[in-house]
Amino acid sequence: MKGMATIRDVAKLAGVSVATVSRVLNKNGYVNKETEQKVVKAMQQLQYEPNAVARGLAGKQTGTIALILPDISNPFFPELARGIEDAAQRLGFTVILCNSDDQGQKEKSYIEVLRKKYVDGIIFASNTLGQEEVVQMKQSSLPFVILDRAVANQVCTVIRCNNYEGAKMAVQHLLDIGCQKIAHIYGPQELITARERLRGYEETVKGFPWYSPSLMVPGSFRFDGGLQAVEELLRLHPDVDGIFAGNDLMALGVLKGLKRKGIAVPDQIAVCGFDGISLTEIAEPELTTVAQPIYEMGAMAAEVLIKKIKTGDTNPGLFELEVRLIQRDSTRKRVRG
Ligand code: RIB
Repeated sequence: MKGMATIRDVAKLAGVSVATVSRVLNKNGYVNKETEQKVVKAMQQLQYEPNAVARGLAGKQTGTIALILPDISNPFFPELARGIEDAAQRLGFTVILCNSDDQGQKEKSYIEVLRKKYVDGIIFASNTLGQEEVVQMKQSSLPFVILDRAVANQVCTVIRCNNYEGAKMAVQHLLDIGCQKIAHIYGPQELITARERLRGYEETVKGFPWYSPSLMVPGSFRFDGGLQAVEELLRLHPDVDGIFAGNDLMALGVLKGLKRKGIAVPDQIAVCGFDGISLTEIAEPELTTVAQPIYEMGAMAAEVLIKKIKTGDTNPGLFELEVRLIQRDSTRKRVRG
């Protein structure tokens, strides 16, 4: 697209450094004839349009990284952003925050704007980058990392938690407190985090005589998703006595739905969430959850990205962090006397 190519793209195509392209652009410093011709040819092929800001910034780091989040209304992501911003600030970088609303097209337009603004790197906490976009990002030479919603076998650097083991931990906890029939309210299955939690639930319970696929009910990773799903679940399985919700917002919706029905938590139905957002501490009853190291994941993503920016390292890598169970009143069954 005309005007979309950056100075980095020109340098890559011409096989020279950004600084060399800058010298050709600004006609300052020596560039041999052959190199200059390669640069000019690359500019023509890419329909490169230098602009004044770009020429000023050419080859320089701007000290800015961008973070693209999928849903700023979910408290998980502001807590993630807090870790990113604190780490970036410690390392002398500022952060531009973008909310994609889980919309791929909105995210693509953000990427185009960010490349023109010469951010030094991008943290993707969204999930709309497909394999093709990841390859394009790798070819663009703009450093980036993928945070949270990423498959482990990406060809780039991924920071995530162990969703599968975390789901098994949640279900095992409900079994340990004596639940006899456990359901799962799951997140959108286009998200790898939701898929891995569903898999962890199913692999833990499928051997029990009470297991049925209808014990897995779709939610939306949102509060109202949990509120509606628990209605459907109890219509199908009124004898359920344990619910594992795929994230804390849905678990809070489940608590609300059970309260509306006059069902006692945890004595009649125990509830466990996933994420570890701070709202779980003020819920009534306080919510048991499998907590992700949200702040630490964010800080690590910023540190890994900024190291890439400073060293030019392009090697892929997987950083998978452990989760931990935080037991609270929503699963603290009174020992039957
Ligand atoms: O609550 C939002 C969910 O989306 C979290 O579980 C996080 O892992 C992300 O995938």
